[in-house]
Amino acid sequence: MKNPPVTPAAATTLYETGNDISENRRMELNALMNQQLASAVDLQMQMKQAHWNVKGPNFIGLHELFDKVDEAVESYVDMIAERIVQLGGLAEGTVRVAAARSRLPEYPLAIADGQDHVAAVAHALATFGQAARSTINEAMELADADTADLFTEVSRGIDKWLWFVEAHSQATK
Ligand SMILES: [Fe+2]
Repeated sequence: MKNPPVTPAAATTLYETGNDISENRRMELNALMNQQLASAVDLQMQMKQAHWNVKGPNFIGLHELFDKVDEAVESYVDMIAERIVQLGGLAEGTVRVAAARSRLPEYPLAIADGQDHVAAVAHALATFGQAARSTINEAMELADADTADLFTEVSRGIDKWLWFVEAHSQATK
């Protein structure tokens, strides 16, 4: 059976709510957040990919660090999805939607060495961090301080995890 095509992130469903943010702004906010939700779901599974497959002398430290990043990203996924629903929208967070819409590069499958995973994870976190930061500004343009605050929290967390990961490669220079 052929799968139906996945449309680009665009809020098409809006439930009635007493939330006072205007319907037009809630539509735009939900499209914005569904785009980020897709990338966040992708990022979460990329962190697990690294957690499962990393090898080398720093195995245990990296294996455990990548799992901690996965747990943090899982909480960001939940926060983003639940704010979409709070604004009357439909959280579109299946793996297939995420795969179609994510703006992250695909995680390299054929790597094993710790430093290769450090580089790949750092690149994924930096790419998502840039998107999270620009979402703060877009939410402010839509006059939604709460969504801006949510992405400020997400981006601050991503910056911290990027530091934790990059620190594994910064002392070798
Ligand atoms: Fe595990």
